[in-house]
Amino acid sequence: MSEKKQQVSRRQFLNYTLTGVGGFMAAGMLAPMVRFAIDPVLQPAAQGNYQAVAQLDEITNEPQRFDWTMDQVDGWYESTVTKSAWVYRNDNDEIIALSPVCKHLGCFVSWAGSEDYPDQFFCPCHDGRYFKDGENVPGTPPAAPLDEYEFKTEEGTLYLGKAKPKGGVI
Ligand code: FES
Repeated sequence: MSEKKQQVSRRQFLNYTLTGVGGFMAAGMLAPMVRFAIDPVLQPAAQGNYQAVAQLDEITNEPQRFDWTMDQVDGWYESTVTKSAWVYRNDNDEIIALSPVCKHLGCFVSWAGSEDYPDQFFCPCHDGRYFKDGENVPGTPPAAPLDEYEFKTEEGTLYLGKAKPKGGVI
């Protein structure tokens, strides 16, 4: 039996060495870039989207505006935003929480914002109006009702979630 001697030539040795070192350096450069690109995916999901907004005993039959702040992450941009809602109890003692954002062009509506319509929401930008339940008044610029916030109540506190189109239709 003959044993064939395996030898590595100088050229092969240099090839292996340069390939190894080059690969190691490339991985060192690419790893931070890949990490940077996929970092938002690696972040844990936000724990619950509900924010404490008011105490239940503060809520009356008259719409009141409640403001709160929350941290918002938009891609790489983190900020604190102020949100608002008009909240009241309807005739069935159910809580209604309406978005103040006008469905025409996005101005803020106010309850009894016009002396002429003291029992409606009023948008000062183009005289848009909404009934107390958030339905848009026919013949005024808004073409859809005010969005309604999802909500839950716990231990005497009202928590609001996302504002959604009334009836779930966009
Ligand atoms: S933005 Fe409200 S009526 Fe135009």
